[in-house]
Amino acid sequence: MEGRVALITGASDGVGEQAARALAARGWTVGVIGRTESKARRIADELGMPFYVADFASLSAVRELALRLRADFPRVDVLANNAGGIFSRQARTADGHEITHQVNHLAHFLLTRLMLDRLLESRAAVVNTSSVAHKLIGFNFDVNDLDMRRHRSQHLAYGNAKLCNILFSSELHRRFHAAGLSAASFHPGMVATSFARGTASPMNLFYHTGLRRLLGLIPPEEGADTLVWLAEGTPGRDWESGKYYVRRKETTPSRKARDAGLARALWEKSEAACAPFLAGAL
Ligand SMILES: NC(=O)c1ccc[n+]([C@@H]2O[C@H](COP(=O)([O-])OP(=O)(O)OC[C@H]3O[C@@H](n4cnc5c(N)ncnc54)[C@H](OP(=O)(O)O)[C@@H]3O)[C@@H](O)[C@H]2O)c1
Repeated sequence: MEGRVALITGASDGVGEQAARALAARGWTVGVIGRTESKARRIADELGMPFYVADFASLSAVRELALRLRADFPRVDVLANNAGGIFSRQARTADGHEITHQVNHLAHFLLTRLMLDRLLESRAAVVNTSSVAHKLIGFNFDVNDLDMRRHRSQHLAYGNAKLCNILFSSELHRRFHAAGLSAASFHPGMVATSFARGTASPMNLFYHTGLRRLLGLIPPEEGADTLVWLAEGTPGRDWESGKYYVRRKETTPSRKARDAGLARALWEKSEAACAPFLAGAL
């Protein structure tokens, strides 16, 4: 396997696609992970890279994905947990979780847990794509109501899920940095991607009409910049493990995102929710 190795979820579109392109151009081997097979295949074929398909609304599909990745990649330098977005309805997944929470956080928690020994052996970095939305609309986060049975709103669910991305990064750091693993989260900016396309959210209007120019959305290549910079950089020299970044700069996230007790509680809840799929994992 040539060069450094990155596995990128959500690499079939938007920020993840551009990060895959940039890293492949720099000589990395990139595992292109997407939900829609035709999109993942097209990008992977263009880059000469392997592709993987899994719908994160299914935790058993995430487990199958992890088993394939483990078989194909004896070393992983970077796991970029980037897939996600906002969904029209707060549907329950087949696993019984609120869909935004599962796709943005829980599925990535499971993927990371199932890859953990490989990531530790590789002294890898885990990069989680979060959002400034964790501050704007992540304020009613309740670790005892992760599936949002009490507060029903697709926007609040999205803000909470992006808060989970930051808490997950800091808890990964707390638990495993001494053993060689690094973790960071970042906000990519307001990026002109397929984000919110086809949803009933007003964000669909902001992102997919003339408003996108008025709002100054940045191109996806620019949105991928911090992810690529984190992947290429050396933790401890170029960036600090456990921190949150915006435009390559360490940035203070919300008070809740800095709450170590909340990060620990989220880990424990996520571990319990994923328990049926963790058999045989470290
Ligand atoms: N765009 C922004 O302004 C913005 C701002 C802050 C944070 N973010 C975050 O950036 C990340 C990437 O979003 P983007 O803007 O690049 O959006 P995008 O263009 O819509 O790309 C989303 C990616 O996630 C994948 N995905 C969506 N649902 C999935 C599912 N159920 N299972 C597996 N994969 C799934 C998509 O796969 P397919 O295309 O194959 O279906 C696609 O590759 C997300 O975590 C988002 O929350 C975006």
